[in-house]
Amino acid sequence: MQTTSSLATLRQSLAKLRGEGATIGLVPTMGALHEGHLTLVRRAREVCDHAVASIFVNPTQFGPNEDLDAYPRQLEQDAAMLEAQGCALLWAPDVAAMYPNGFATNVSVKGVSEGFCGADRPGHFDGVATVVCKLFNQVQPDRAFFGEKDFQQLAVIRTMARDLDLTHPHVHEIIGVPTVREADGLAMSSRNRYLSPEDRAAAATLPKAMDAAIATIEGGGNVGAALARLQSDLLEAGFASVDYAALADATSLAAIDALTGASARLLVAARIGGTRLIDNKAVG
Ligand code: PAF
Repeated sequence: MQTTSSLATLRQSLAKLRGEGATIGLVPTMGALHEGHLTLVRRAREVCDHAVASIFVNPTQFGPNEDLDAYPRQLEQDAAMLEAQGCALLWAPDVAAMYPNGFATNVSVKGVSEGFCGADRPGHFDGVATVVCKLFNQVQPDRAFFGEKDFQQLAVIRTMARDLDLTHPHVHEIIGVPTVREADGLAMSSRNRYLSPEDRAAAATLPKAMDAAIATIEGGGNVGAALARLQSDLLEAGFASVDYAALADATSLAAIDALTGASARLLVAARIGGTRLIDNKAVG
C-alpha cells in the first residue's frame, strides 16, 4: 500500500490504479482506526476493484472546546491496519495541504445538519461537509463508504452530494455501512478509548436502554415516555448528561413523536466521564 500526503502524487497513483476502468472505493476517516473502519475497507474491496482510504484529523469539524489536540493520531499503526485489509492507497494530507493559506470556502447544508449533533456542536457539519466535498473532488471515487454510526453525518453528506451534483460524475454512489458493535453492544468509536474501565462498563447501558425504548415504541407505547425512560436509565447508569434522545424520520431527520410507516431512527447523544457518545438504531 502506498501512502501519500501530496495531491499531485495522489492523482498520479489514482490514475495508475484506475488503469483500464478499474473502480475506486473511498473510505474517508480521521484515523485511530478500529474494526468499524476496517469493515468499511472490506466493503469497499467487495464492491470496487480498489479501496482507497483517507486519514485527516479535520480541524474545521472540531469546536473550540472539543478534543482536536487530544484526538488520537497513530498514522503508522493505522497504515499497517489498512495494508492488512488490502487497501491500495492511503491519502494522508496535512492541514496546510488541505487548507492552504487563504482558504475561504465553506460548504453548509441546511435542514438535516441543524438538529441533534448540529445543534450541540455549532459548525461541526460545515466542517464535515467541506472536507468531504474536497475529498470527493480529490479522489473522485466511484463509491464512498461511511458508517451508519454517524447517521446524521451520512444524511448531511448524501444531501450535499445530491445538491452539488457530486454524485455525477464524481461519486456514483454513497454507501452507508451498518454500525459495528463491541460484544456488549457498544458502538465502536475512536473515542471509546477515552473511557475509564468503569465508564466503559457503564457505557454498555446506552445500546441496551435504546433497545428497551425501541421495544416500547414498536409495541405501540408512548414515544415521549419511552425517551424519558431511556434518559433516566442512562443517568442512573452513570452518564453525566444526555444531549438528546429522539425519534426521527430516517431521511429528513425531523423529530417525530409517533411511528408513521416511513422508516424511523432512534438517535442518542450522551456524555460519560467527559466523553460524548452517540448511537442510533432503526425503529419499526
Ligand atoms: O466520520 C469521520 O471520521 C469524519 O467525520 C470524516 C467523514 C472522515 C470527515 O472528516
